[in-house]
Amino acid sequence: MTIKTVVFDAYGTLFDVDAAARAAAAHHPVLAECWPRLSADWRRKHLEYSWQRSLMGLYQPFDRLAADALDWALEAQGIDDIALRRLLLELFQTLPAFPEAPPLLARLAEARIHRAILTNANPAMIEKAVASAGLSGAFDALISAEAVGIYKPAPRVYDLVMERFAVAPEQVLFVSSNGWDIAGAGAFGFRTVWVNRAGLPVDRLPHRPAHILPDLSSLPDLLP
Ligand code: LAC
Repeated sequence: MTIKTVVFDAYGTLFDVDAAARAAAAHHPVLAECWPRLSADWRRKHLEYSWQRSLMGLYQPFDRLAADALDWALEAQGIDDIALRRLLLELFQTLPAFPEAPPLLARLAEARIHRAILTNANPAMIEKAVASAGLSGAFDALISAEAVGIYKPAPRVYDLVMERFAVAPEQVLFVSSNGWDIAGAGAFGFRTVWVNRAGLPVDRLPHRPAHILPDLSSLPDLLP
């Protein structure tokens, strides 16, 4: 079945989530040693809070969860610095895109393939990220889990793609750097591409990725 729509996860897939702590470390000696650990804790807690709140039925927007997770990660490093906290959250709202993302999106547009983001980020958060990365206009749709008040990998979130585009699930190529997101998208019926930037093992979850790439640059090879 021909691919009509390519749907991207945002954080870690299009946007470099480690860039906030890495950039702040250049100006804050307190982060010089610990920024990789801080960044990993921040991301892990952000995701865990999204799943835990989904199970508890206590939805809060993803940018609020980013602040909660950062507070945990800073405290774990013994850092109590309001100005640094503010800087990290600002940098997190304006993360750079991975360098291969803009040319890929341009190439998909030329091939008349629809492009969308399906993200756990609330609309204001993803709109700001896309604009600050210079990608305004690169997508046909920015689809947020906020519409259903629960986070990926809940099936209701992937179903938002069906509401937006008149396609069958198997005509959607879903691209994510998160193994759990690939499992959720595969369970929904999308064809999946796992962007395994870190060279990690495949997650032991149902629905292994249909394709595995080291980054986004060779993605067009998967299309007709
Ligand atoms: C997203 C995060 C979870 O964009 O990567 O949905």
